[in-house]
Amino acid sequence: MSDAPIGIFDSGVGGLTVARAIIDQLPGESVLYVGDTAHSPYGPKPIALVREYTLAVLDDLVERGVKMIVIACNTASAATLRDARERYTQQLGIPVVEVIQPAVRAAVVQSRVGRIGVIGTTGTIMSRAYDDAFAAAPHLSVHSRACPRFVEFVEAGITSGPELFDVAEEYLAPLKAEGIDTLVLGCTHYPLLAGAIRYVMGPGVTLVSSADETAADVYRTLVQHGIERADPAPPTYEFDATGKSKIEFTRLARRFLGPEVSTVELVETGTIPLPERHT
Ligand code: DGL
Repeated sequence: MSDAPIGIFDSGVGGLTVARAIIDQLPGESVLYVGDTAHSPYGPKPIALVREYTLAVLDDLVERGVKMIVIACNTASAATLRDARERYTQQLGIPVVEVIQPAVRAAVVQSRVGRIGVIGTTGTIMSRAYDDAFAAAPHLSVHSRACPRFVEFVEAGITSGPELFDVAEEYLAPLKAEGIDTLVLGCTHYPLLAGAIRYVMGPGVTLVSSADETAADVYRTLVQHGIERADPAPPTYEFDATGKSKIEFTRLARRFLGPEVSTVELVETGTIPLPERHT
């Protein structure tokens, strides 16, 4: 069991920022990544539909024998937080790590003045999952803002320039006005915009990336469960996509993760009918 891969799930390629952090912090672990590109983006979709898509892929990962599940997508984490723990950890003993709680924990520790901003997709912000996670620290003041166009910019490869800065100014101005000192990047894609976000917010604001914090949580969970990989052979990496285009997934995936994305497979998930494939 401990030599089985860590199952990482995202709506598409964005979760590869989390996979990157996990591979960096746990270089001996094998990874099986599934991006639900057939149904992405999740951000603008109703939360019930995101939940249905997410659980179908997670069921599939469990069937394929992963030792642990990482929900790398913020929108999917917001939609399935409680369900996933009940379904996989309580019923099957498979630990689940998601991206919201690790980022919230880090933000609570890092904030000096207790004024925290959260940015994410429309689905994540509307679900209020971050507000719920921060509720345990009622002395903090939390200000959330959906930044839906940021995902489009990243997928188009745009990480600077006047159009991005204008949109970033518009999205982030209310958070600046609130005097936040810590900003949670509550979406898989936003670490790739960290430069632009830092430029707009100014040097006094600390950015918290879910990717690094989640990888630290994965590390801790593996050690606590005693399921670190013991096999001396090199680890394996597999990157699967549910959608049509291998080429598009691979192109974007290389940007998010780097050269580890050498082989991409297209897979079907359990219960959701998928469009025809072009391999
Ligand atoms: N992975 C999603 C998230 O972190 C962003 C992309 C999408 O909308 O599917 O919320």
